[in-house]
Amino acid sequence: MKKRILLTPLFVLILLLYIFCLVAQALEDRHGKAGITCEGCHKENLPSKKVPTAVCLGCHGPYSKLAQETNKVEPNPHDSHEGEIDCDRCHHNHKPSENYCVGCHNFAFTVP
Ligand code: HEC
Ligand code: HEC
Ligand code: HEC
Ligand code: HEC
Repeated sequence: MKKRILLTPLFVLILLLYIFCLVAQALEDRHGKAGITCEGCHKENLPSKKVPTAVCLGCHGPYSKLAQETNKVEPNPHDSHEGEIDCDRCHHNHKPSENYCVGCHNFAFTVP
């Protein structure tokens, strides 16, 4: 009986940490599984700087193609009055992504 009471919060904590890691690592994992190496994004021997949007667009672009891919999403995160903004306003590779638009709106985007 005592054991059960002790184990339950610990189990819940581990589960929450696990879920957090899954969410936090999602994009890094997707790129890893797709075989994208560090050099695929960081055009430097020892990665130390952020990756410019132009590098992302090299594989995923142009922006009009991205807009096409998410044209079912309302509103379209890749086609708005904000124009062709940098990817890192929303997508992060090594840390959780964010929703830039919530600064002014409350769209419930889930940013991969
Ligand atoms: C060398 C090519 C390459 C570069 C550079 C690259 N990506 Fe990717 N990206 C891929 C591939 C391949 C996938 C996996 C596609 C899939 O799983 O369908 C992917 C997946 C993604 C996804 C996930 C799509 C999904 O359906 O969940 C996002 C978001 C993304 N990339 C954004 C970026 C951003 C932002 C950058 C710049 C920091 C970037 N990518 C740089 C090739 C690249
Ligand atoms: C305003 C935030 C925002 C910005 C800026 C942004 N994205 Fe996205 N992106 C999203 C959201 C949200 C989704 C998921 C849409 C959905 O629900 O399917 C997405 C999805 C994607 C996908 C997956 C598309 C698919 O086929 O499902 C790729 C690849 C991607 N983004 C790449 C990029 C790249 C590269 C840039 C920069 C040139 C960029 N994004 C800029 C918010 C953003
Ligand atoms: C899909 C593109 C992509 C790949 C692949 C990638 N990175 Fe990154 N990296 C980024 C982006 C974008 C940032 C900016 C911070 C973020 O989004 O998490 C960054 C930031 C960094 C930074 C910190 C620089 C800063 O000022 O934030 C280091 C160090 C780094 N990456 C190392 C690596 C290493 C090592 C690998 C290979 C294991 C790697 N990266 C693979 C896109 C990538
Ligand atoms: C600096 C604040 C700001 C940011 C950031 C911002 N918006 Fe807006 N947005 C506005 C304002 C102000 C309006 C005009 C509101 C109105 O006319 O009612 C607007 C209007 C819109 C509209 C018109 C439809 C409506 O509901 O009024 C859409 C769609 C939209 N924004 C999408 C986006 C998307 C997607 C992003 C992120 C890429 C974004 N916005 C980022 C301020 C912002």
